[in-house]
Amino acid sequence: MGGKVGEGRGKRQAARKDEALKPKPEAMRIAKAMAHAGLCSRRDAEKWIEQGRVAVNGKVLTTPAQIVGPSDKITVDGKPLPQAQAVRLWRYHKPRGLVTSHKDPQGRKTVFEALPAGLPRVVSVGRLDINTEGLLLLTTDGALARHLELPSTGWLRRYRVRAHGSVTQEALDGLRDGVTIDGVHYGPVEARIDRAQGTNLWLMLGLREGKNREVKRLAEHLGLTVNRLIRVSFGPFALGELAPGAVEEVKPKVLADQLGAKLTAEFKLREAAKERRQAYWR
Ligand code: URA
Repeated sequence: MGGKVGEGRGKRQAARKDEALKPKPEAMRIAKAMAHAGLCSRRDAEKWIEQGRVAVNGKVLTTPAQIVGPSDKITVDGKPLPQAQAVRLWRYHKPRGLVTSHKDPQGRKTVFEALPAGLPRVVSVGRLDINTEGLLLLTTDGALARHLELPSTGWLRRYRVRAHGSVTQEALDGLRDGVTIDGVHYGPVEARIDRAQGTNLWLMLGLREGKNREVKRLAEHLGLTVNRLIRVSFGPFALGELAPGAVEEVKPKVLADQLGAKLTAEFKLREAAKERRQAYWR
């Protein structure tokens, strides 16, 4: 495969067999169907079900262990579930100083308040700490977000790190097999020193888990203090030349190519691409 999306290396070939990618209307757990509709996260859906707010074909659910199909009538607070929207994904350059949350109890400005006008309701694929900058993926589909952020999906997250202190390449190589810090195990990390700048070092770190404050904890473990942290890529998507605060939509076709056949079918991305092409010509 060529470069990452956002790196601007030109068009990629999409020599896939469309037949194999045709989405099948699948039965799925109720919480997943609600997340696909863009209404909430799966976790919220489970809470709402416990609270007796969700009904299927007129019967109020008492457990999230319910499978639903395309013909089931789902309601939340008596209102029909919105039609599942076409799945869309954006690259966003998160500036420093914004909280990745829909609401902050401390009243700090959130990513979602700062987004350019005109975006539909989106959720983020994972989170970046308030002072972290760089690539944050945004999507209309809560279930896709959850899937992409799972460590088991195994997408590489790459960070440029400016840290105060000194470290050897040998010590960084010690992170390759993973490390346990204060009882928390962190998986394998590739790390290299890019350059020194005064009393700071610029490092590049690549990891696949995305645990809470992972980069800062790993750096502290090596005796470094992070003072700038920039995520430069997430899986096949790169920050590239996006300006701080800017968003850029990933074309549905490119998204389908990057996610592969299984996810493309699950999230009906080929349909989304087709719908939007048709809308364009109408
Ligand atoms: N690691 C951190 O410490 N913070 C982030 O925001 C992301 C990775």
